Amino acid sequence: MDIKQLQKNFDSLASEDPLWTVLSDNSKRGGRWDVEEFYATGEPLIADLGKRLELAGLSFQGETAIDFGCGVGRLSFPLGKRFAQCYGVDISQSMVDYARSEIHRGPNCQFIVNTSDRLDSFESSSIDFVYTAIVLQHMAPRYIYSYLREFSRVLSQGGTLAFQLPSHLNKQTSANQKPLRMLQKRTFYQAKSLKQKISQWLPFINSDSYFEMNAIPRKKVIEFLESQCRLKVIDAQDFPAAGDNWISYLYLARKSD
Ligand SMILES: C[S@@+](CC[C@H](N)C(=O)[O-])C[C@H]1O[C@@H](n2cnc3c(N)ncnc32)[C@H](O)[C@@H]1O
Repeated sequence: MDIKQLQKNFDSLASEDPLWTVLSDNSKRGGRWDVEEFYATGEPLIADLGKRLELAGLSFQGETAIDFGCGVGRLSFPLGKRFAQCYGVDISQSMVDYARSEIHRGPNCQFIVNTSDRLDSFESSSIDFVYTAIVLQHMAPRYIYSYLREFSRVLSQGGTLAFQLPSHLNKQTSANQKPLRMLQKRTFYQAKSLKQKISQWLPFINSDSYFEMNAIPRKKVIEFLESQCRLKVIDAQDFPAAGDNWISYLYLARKSD
């Protein structure tokens, strides 16, 4: 889908059920996430990220951080504890409104709506750390590449980029899951009757909004970062944030000369 549709899609999901849109546990659908339980999932993920960065010898401190695709700020607030200022950036106004209403969780966080495939609110070389998880997988590869370029542009010299992205389907778990394979095909969604059939297997696809899933092979990602983004990839670690059906990685990179 193009970026306007992406925005409409996430805004519609977010205005309906923001916490479930972020963490799509079926037992929590329909406003059934306990808000405290939901936000408590953020800190351990950021603590784990800190350990991974330390082991990789990468910096996890400084003045400024961006949590790209911040949703309701689940990861921005804990990230804000490690930086003087954390910017949560999201395409959905409803998500950003929700995050702002929870600002007591991290008053040094600032939430910004960004609806383009660039990060025009940020000057080049102005940010020490950029993080994004369970976001890039939901957009077409041309936008993923565009944001990766932008992350590099806004990072200061020696700054750190950490992001999660699926590489490919996990053959072991997805062998009998044709519907998931088809999730990658845009035309599939245009066939409503098919969509209804699939929703019997995948209950989250039962409204007009849906989660598009995309992947870029690890080798291609690393080549792109190193040849076109002035980023040195330090590691690409297994990181099953996209669920069992995808082989997904956490990329850790440093902005180089
Ligand atoms: C599954 S949620 C994850 C939220 C957050 N990263 C977390 O883990 O708590 C995906 C978020 O990405 C946002 N998003 C999707 N496409 C985006 C884009 N092009 N630019 C910024 N945010 C985007 C959605 O609005 C949504 O809030």
